[in-house]
Amino acid sequence: MPIEVIAHRGYSAERPENTIASFDWALDSGFNLIELDIHQTSDGALVVIHDESVDRTTDGTGFISELTLENIKALDAGSWFAPHYSAQTVPTLEEILTRYFDRAHVFIEIKSVEEDLSASLRQLIEKNGWIPRLSGPPLCVPGISVISFLPEQLLLSRKALPELDHGLLVTRGDDEHIDFCLKNGIKGFFPYFRLVDKETISRAKREQLYTGVWGMDSPEQLRIALELGVDGVTVNWPTEANHFFANNV
Ligand code: G3P
Ligand code: CA
Repeated sequence: MPIEVIAHRGYSAERPENTIASFDWALDSGFNLIELDIHQTSDGALVVIHDESVDRTTDGTGFISELTLENIKALDAGSWFAPHYSAQTVPTLEEILTRYFDRAHVFIEIKSVEEDLSASLRQLIEKNGWIPRLSGPPLCVPGISVISFLPEQLLLSRKALPELDHGLLVTRGDDEHIDFCLKNGIKGFFPYFRLVDKETISRAKREQLYTGVWGMDSPEQLRIALELGVDGVTVNWPTEANHFFANNV
């Protein structure tokens, strides 16, 4: 099986991360497996942004949990990357679910800790018509997977959205994480590429978990992913990753 390439925060090497420009460019470049990050605003909206504050990737300041959707939507989320992208805003998750309906497998990474976030997530996914589409194998298109470094959020989401696949993100990938996945019906295991060994990946695969690594800074580092034998990689430069695999498998 070829290694699957997931576009991290969209095609974020060439567009401002987690914006429509970035996700569109991933799909236009032939990559329909896209990863994004979500936080909850002070008025309960789910927005697509990586950090807990808007400071790094917009022209505003402040924590997302203390800003309203209206506050956040007024910000420029593209100029920090290049002036050409000044019209980009922080997308709502709903914009993504509408725009890429039936066209993508969306990895939604829960970043924030609110206990009611999963209920909002379910409501949005249902409202936008995805639920009946979600019966295919892992990573199928259309599809949605929920991933997180936060085990509690993953368990809440698994309960609220049993129709979706879930994946555990970890820095160091150990047997105890595999055990957590197996015990809780979590189907994906996603460690940092430098902090997992081949034996652990092999065990995860024997246990029928989907395995993927993240954190690679350059295509050359994909050699480690190849050696580990993972199913997928999450990268900012999907075209370069495909070229690497085409020349190295
Ligand atoms: O999917 C893996 C990756 O997104 C985890 O790290 O910091 O980019 O969210 P981060
Ligand atoms: Ca992420």
